[in-house]
Amino acid sequence: MNAIKFKNNCLFYLDQTQLPSKEVWRQCKNLREGFTAIKQLRVRGAPLIGVFAAYCMAQALANFSHHKEQFLRQFKKGVRYLKQSRPTAVNLFWALDRLERVVFDNREKPLSEIKRMILREAVAIHKQDLELCRKMAEFGVKLVKKGDRILTHCNAGSLATGGDGTAVAVIYKAHKVYKDIKVYADETRPLLQGARLTAWELQKNKVPTTLICDSMAAYLMQKGNIDKIFVGADRIASNGDAANKIGTYNLAVIARYHKLPFYVVAPFSTFDLALESGEQIPIEERADNEVRTVLNKLVIAPQDISTANPAFDVTPNKLITAIVTDKGIIYPPFKKNIVKTIKS
Ligand code: MRU
Repeated sequence: MNAIKFKNNCLFYLDQTQLPSKEVWRQCKNLREGFTAIKQLRVRGAPLIGVFAAYCMAQALANFSHHKEQFLRQFKKGVRYLKQSRPTAVNLFWALDRLERVVFDNREKPLSEIKRMILREAVAIHKQDLELCRKMAEFGVKLVKKGDRILTHCNAGSLATGGDGTAVAVIYKAHKVYKDIKVYADETRPLLQGARLTAWELQKNKVPTTLICDSMAAYLMQKGNIDKIFVGADRIASNGDAANKIGTYNLAVIARYHKLPFYVVAPFSTFDLALESGEQIPIEERADNEVRTVLNKLVIAPQDISTANPAFDVTPNKLITAIVTDKGIIYPPFKKNIVKTIKS
């Protein structure tokens, strides 16, 4: 399942805010539309926003007909602009930095050639992400046993990446290999990515899935209904602290209490080795209305009630059993093993 398409120099995306009731494809024609699509979570998920931003730059600048100096200024401005759309997922910055390097290294070449190289790099980022998902699934499936009941949070599937997903790619692979695994999908308040997106894509792919409210996870663990947890990540510090959708940390705490393995699945592009710990990861704070209403449709709280709406939390490394990456499975001690694996 693809969440974005790039065809004849046109960028299209599946508007994820409309799922699961409607499958609406929209065209992204310029940087402003790209910025809005990311900010409003029409395109979301750490790896996917990196891929999407790269295409967005490539197509927005393709028709720019001014002199090279002006083009380079416009390019830099565009990169700075898109980087302001969402702060937590490092993949956005990683992808745009990759384009910047290509442009910088080739700034002496003709403008038409530079434009071609930007597009080529965007396509390469997309293709690479597809392959990274495949590799994570290959490694991650080794942690799954026949009959496992797996809990996942938010959406770390094909709607969040250029391939089958991170955590959910492992689930797809395990479903293919064992045929009998079961999935519990957390609804993931406030924006319900688990209910609207994960439940939708798993059901579409015929993976037996049970949707639960976030508050039900501890009860199910206590009753012995869950064997392990697989989640994605938006940014992982060099010590293994991992930022993911708000509520992930709760799961890690209750998993530890119930002695259940807690796995994070992420490609190398989600690691931010410049950060010593998760305390340095910027956490996006979103609008009050997301908490006071259900998807801006149903009011569920008094008007003007004060709210907190951090979109992500950081799971401390000591609650993580292992991190599945495209380069292999990383076990503690994370500080040593992350650098060794990710830089290899
Ligand atoms: O706010 P979102 O929907 O972009 O958050 C996405 C997540 O938190 C995912 O779990 C994360 O990006 C990992 S995914 C492949």
